[in-house]
Amino acid sequence: MSATPWGIEARPVEVEVDVQTGLPQIQIVGLPDAAVREARERVRAALRNCGFDLPPRAVTVSLAPADLRKEGNHLDLAIATALLAAHGALDASYLGGRMLAGELGLDGAVRPIRGALAIADAAARSGCSELLLPASNAAEAAALEALPARGVLALPELVAHLCGEAPLPAAPGDREWAPRGEPAVDLAEVHGQELPKRALEIAAAGGHNLLFVGPPGAGKTMLARALPGILPPLSRLEAVAVTKVHSLVADEPPAGLLRHRPFRSPHAGVSPPGLVGGGPFSRPGEASLAHSGVLFLDELAEFRRDALEALRAPLEDGAITICRARARHLFPARFQLVAAMNPCPCGHLGDPRHACRCPLPLVERYRARISGPLLDRIDLHVEVAPVRLAELRERECERSCEVAERVQRARERQAARFPAGHATPVNASLASRGLREHCRLDTAGQRLLDAAFERLGLSARALTRILKVARTIADLAGADGLAAAHVAEAIQFRSLDRRLAPQVS
Ligand SMILES: Nc1ncnc2c1ncn2[C@@H]1O[C@H](COP(=O)(O)OP(=O)(O)O)[C@@H](O)[C@H]1O
Ligand SMILES: [Mg+2]
Repeated sequence: MSATPWGIEARPVEVEVDVQTGLPQIQIVGLPDAAVREARERVRAALRNCGFDLPPRAVTVSLAPADLRKEGNHLDLAIATALLAAHGALDASYLGGRMLAGELGLDGAVRPIRGALAIADAAARSGCSELLLPASNAAEAAALEALPARGVLALPELVAHLCGEAPLPAAPGDREWAPRGEPAVDLAEVHGQELPKRALEIAAAGGHNLLFVGPPGAGKTMLARALPGILPPLSRLEAVAVTKVHSLVADEPPAGLLRHRPFRSPHAGVSPPGLVGGGPFSRPGEASLAHSGVLFLDELAEFRRDALEALRAPLEDGAITICRARARHLFPARFQLVAAMNPCPCGHLGDPRHACRCPLPLVERYRARISGPLLDRIDLHVEVAPVRLAELRERECERSCEVAERVQRARERQAARFPAGHATPVNASLASRGLREHCRLDTAGQRLLDAAFERLGLSARALTRILKVARTIADLAGADGLAAAHVAEAIQFRSLDRRLAPQVS
């Protein structure tokens, strides 16, 4: 058995080898792509260079199921060992119930592959008793803790293990993977900014999307970078899904499971495939790499319009479908969107200390770069004013770990409302039934909401989003029912457009 990548998952592949007298050649059938076809040359050279001299025969390698496209470099190990068995150089019974995945070098060295965690999943699901794969991928596969994963450095070592001459150890399964990234900002480093910090806490607690608007240097980027530090760690279920995605693009194989929520901040020039995935190699995009974490779009107005439009589908569905010639892959993309932008091209509209000199049409054109439907999907719109001198001099601010505790408690209250095993049990993913059940308003709250609907010209979508934010505010306060005060605070985070409307008109 071996496996081939399938979106972020892997599909099991059965490798059969038949040997006949005839013209010496190796033929591979069963929809191999170019990399799989080239396995022929790699396997032939590796076997010869490791001292397995096989007589010249006509060899057919069949990859089943025949209608599944086989991609990549994963099948070499299985083809090589099946060849040995077909020639009688290895007892075929040794291969039963084992999955092998790895690329061979010409010298017989076993080279790393991508997607080892997904392959371990495929191996466990198809009932294999162990997985043999490149040594540098073993920790990742073992992290699934579903079957023993043994790392192999070279072909002779693999053969010795299969015959039982020199058994390979199983890799330990409890490893974590923490790829190097920019260190998160601690909230204690951000002085003042009580309102944006409050918004950050609400966003973290309920999984809501967030937009910061303010002049350059006000601290928008800094605030956004503080979000990962107050989010709860990934659950095991989430960690497996997130690691599968990152495994497909990581520079080096994961050393275990990712435990921290991803924080992705793509550059404003990112193309639609770069942002949502696809392109010739069907790679996951930034939106999928941010799955279960944060997608941060800094300087939102500078982003390509087509790229932002492409975000609408994952914002709604939490996943992206990528169609290829013969397959449709579903990449998960349930991220929390955090965006930051200036209110106008010069950045000083609404700033009490600097006059804005942007002509009105320019401001309007700048704002129009971000479409209404995208803004509508952002629950919290927050004005970030420049920090005052007195606040900068303040000594101690609350640290991220203290806020994280409140966030965690609010998340526990929310989780109790969802069925066990729900992928994202936060208020942001409440469906209409959950909304009706858990976001019932009293008369005062209803009156507030109705008034805001008229006054702010809200859409129906904005209205439900306000309700969800209000629910999170109540959860942070430990309240069971929704009170008018909760609704009022939620509405305040949707009234930014009015406050920052260009004054000239
Ligand atoms: N509230 C604040 N407390 C402490 N430092 C701040 C604050 N706001 C801004 N700064 C400082 O100013 C720098 C620029 O902030 P930044 O987040 O890049 O602003 P923006 O993204 O709004 O242009 C930060 O790196 C930080 O050193
Ligand atoms: Mg910035």
